[in-house]
Amino acid sequence: MRVLGIETSCDETGVAVYDTAFAGVEGLRAQALYSQIALHAEYGGVVPELASRDHVRKLLPLIRQTLADAGMGVGDLDGVAYTAGPGLVGALLVGAGVARALAWALDKPAIGVHHMEGHLLAPLLEAPDLEPPFVALLVSGGHTQLVAVDAIGQYRLLGETLDDAAGEAFDKTAKMMDLPYPGGSQLAALAATGSPDVYKFSRPMTDRPGLDFSFSGLKTQVLLAWRASDQSPKTRADIARGFEDAVVDTLAIKCERALDAAGCETLIVAGGVGANVRLRAKLAAMAARRGGRACFPRPALCTDNGAMIAFAGALRLQAGQQNDAAIQVMPRWDMACLPPLATSRDSAFVNAREPAR
Ligand code: KG4
Ligand code: ZN
Repeated sequence: MRVLGIETSCDETGVAVYDTAFAGVEGLRAQALYSQIALHAEYGGVVPELASRDHVRKLLPLIRQTLADAGMGVGDLDGVAYTAGPGLVGALLVGAGVARALAWALDKPAIGVHHMEGHLLAPLLEAPDLEPPFVALLVSGGHTQLVAVDAIGQYRLLGETLDDAAGEAFDKTAKMMDLPYPGGSQLAALAATGSPDVYKFSRPMTDRPGLDFSFSGLKTQVLLAWRASDQSPKTRADIARGFEDAVVDTLAIKCERALDAAGCETLIVAGGVGANVRLRAKLAAMAARRGGRACFPRPALCTDNGAMIAFAGALRLQAGQQNDAAIQVMPRWDMACLPPLATSRDSAFVNAREPAR
């Protein structure tokens, strides 16, 4: 089954074609990504209206390009998948509208994919042998969640952030220290040149039981340290290193607790912060020490992309799931509401349960 995937939930227009005749990343026949970073940079953050308009400009050319790269025409597609939420409503509507129109014209099924399920399933592109149960750490600009994956499509929230997401904390901290937007990856690059232990920040909420996170206090600690410092390039790098170590240690401590709580030894990591080199090394070492396994997508598949949507959509379409021909998006959407991935065609479902609003 050849599925076109469309991602437009925020500031990246992503398109890919996934073919289920192949295993894992081999099935990725072509993909294209257009980042709106330059468009939003002068505002220091994503401007939703500008994001929507840019998706309108870029989506059709990217679809043409992706199909050409895959050596296919629209008639070769067996289905269309699009991000239906969570995300910016106007941006989501662009992808949903184009996907539904294409599916209607081709008389093929279409499915709205949960953006975080797309992230969560991306590690399976790298390791097709991976089978639940496992624990997923989802760390993006909007989410920080620990999820028990009992089966594909069956997700139990173990813990989440009570305030800022990990990526948001990276971005806000970078902005405080005058790094250009988007700051997360820039802060990580700067941290690589800093010395450990010059600045030691707290590991929030690790001194008590539980699997929730809180990163906003850490951000304030960094702000106070930055203001009180000489603000030299070396100090900035040392503070960046101290901040990154605090986030990475906190995530690793909670991941280990989550593995204990779920009673399994496989950890998968997904979302933009999953591209962080120090986080990957720390979690891989932790899993290895326990005799378990940590799986990550390659960095380009950690951040937003069309491949994860094509892949997640293909799994659901292949299981006989599809949505009605309505353009419906869910800016807020609880992943626990998703139907399990049934394996037979007679399991017609579809976002049947109302998403949380
Ligand atoms: O998953 P993603 O591309 O978009 C959302 O769905 O939010 O995640 C973007 C987030 C941003 O906050 C960005 O700063 C962060 O991921 N990020 C990183 C790194 N690369 C991207 N954070 C830390 N280290 C990185 N190398
Ligand atoms: Zn994302």
